[in-house]
Amino acid sequence: MDDRELLKEAAKARAFSYSPYSDFAVGAALLAKSGKVYTGCNVENAAFTPGNCAERTAVFKAVSEGEKEFEAVAIVGGKNGTKPRSVYPCGVCRQVLCEFVDAESFRVITGEPDGEMTAITFDTLLPLSFGPKSL
Ligand code: THU
Repeated sequence: MDDRELLKEAAKARAFSYSPYSDFAVGAALLAKSGKVYTGCNVENAAFTPGNCAERTAVFKAVSEGEKEFEAVAIVGGKNGTKPRSVYPCGVCRQVLCEFVDAESFRVITGEPDGEMTAITFDTLLPLSFGPKSL
């Protein structure tokens, strides 16, 4: 699956966002080295703190189904009812991704599914990270 297709998968997942409190819908699509794609959306909660981001939903779905090696993630966000646009992962999601990715090669893709799109490698997002190799 190419980066554009992965971004479109993220946009599809965003449609399932449960975000009545922030009114901000996020979708993510995580490409495993197996070729399988795991999608996720943000899932908020009335108690606020139990809410989960789209990226972590995708990672936890994948790892809980036996995947531990990943090639890329695509993310889109934006207010509910608006067109998907570029969003980068929050700090907590960067740390969760860090556990499972090769920072120099893992791609983080974002942008508009039918428009401008960017891809960067994970080391740009989380330099000087604390990961499995730090222990
Ligand atoms: N959110 C994500 O799902 N991913 C991000 O990378 C940034 C933020 C969610 C969390 C919350 O439900 C809403 O977007 C507003 O912060």
